[in-house]
Amino acid sequence: MYSEKVMDHFQNPRNVGEIENASGVGTVGNAKCGDIMRMYLDIDENGVIRDCKFKTFGCGAAVATSSMATELVMGKTIQEALEVTNKAVMEALDGLPPVKVHCSLLAEEAIHAALWDYAEKNGIKIEGLEKPKNDISEGEEEEDY
Ligand code: FES
Repeated sequence: MYSEKVMDHFQNPRNVGEIENASGVGTVGNAKCGDIMRMYLDIDENGVIRDCKFKTFGCGAAVATSSMATELVMGKTIQEALEVTNKAVMEALDGLPPVKVHCSLLAEEAIHAALWDYAEKNGIKIEGLEKPKNDISEGEEEEDY
């Protein structure tokens, strides 16, 4: 059911933890399953993500996608990090079962929320970044779940 990469990232998640005095912190949840994700970003003066950590109270797919997402955004610029969509994360993990696709949205939204927090703290606007939702199940079609 799960690819080897998903199992690996679930069993040995990368970059778990917190960053003290992070440049940006984002927390999002999915009220339907009750899972929560928090993402911490450390962004240098050139707008490059030099560190990224996460904490998840969530299912295995949420852990694996967050772990992969942290690896994908590390070392990237803010603009490049915005291109790390849940689809990109799933591809990097060799796919997820259809019922677990929504879990990958937590990671994407948590990164966006952390970037939003960074932008607010610094009084800047990040091109292409929309205000993230606190609850990713908001506005979702029932049958998607
Ligand atoms: Fe909630 Fe996977 S079931 S994030």
